[in-house]
Amino acid sequence: MRNRVEVMHGVNFDVLDRRDPDHYGGLTLTELEARVKRFARELGLEVLFSQTNHEGEFCENLHRAARSADGLVLNPGAWTHYSWAIRDALEVAQLPAVEVHLSAVGEREEWRLVSVIRDLCVGCVQGKGVAGYRDALEMLKEAMQR
Ligand code: DQA
Repeated sequence: MRNRVEVMHGVNFDVLDRRDPDHYGGLTLTELEARVKRFARELGLEVLFSQTNHEGEFCENLHRAARSADGLVLNPGAWTHYSWAIRDALEVAQLPAVEVHLSAVGEREEWRLVSVIRDLCVGCVQGKGVAGYRDALEMLKEAMQR
């Protein structure tokens, strides 16, 4: 059974609890990951986490995940909106992926409307806070079983 998921966070997620709580909820990344781990357990998924502030490292994590995971939950933060390098690395990974954002990126500044990874993903969840990760894991579980 394919059930290994990597949840990858990008730039500025190490300081999640210091970012605008109206958009991001005020949790630390560790607290967020603990919640996501619980969702994953309830869905019978194995979960691994990574976070980096370095774009090249995020790409390398995608290269590595191609061998160690069956699916990806991606929140690259601001890179979502412009990193063609991350898009290319995601293509290399050839894994089902769901894009997640804590905030409602579709209702914020114009530059956040663009996602360079969206069409490579099986789904996108935004504006649902931590609960959005549960939806993302459900979507991914279905995609991994296909
Ligand atoms: C974010 C939305 C991005 O626009 C922003 O740059 C982030 C967080 C979110 O989870 O809402 O860093 O990905």
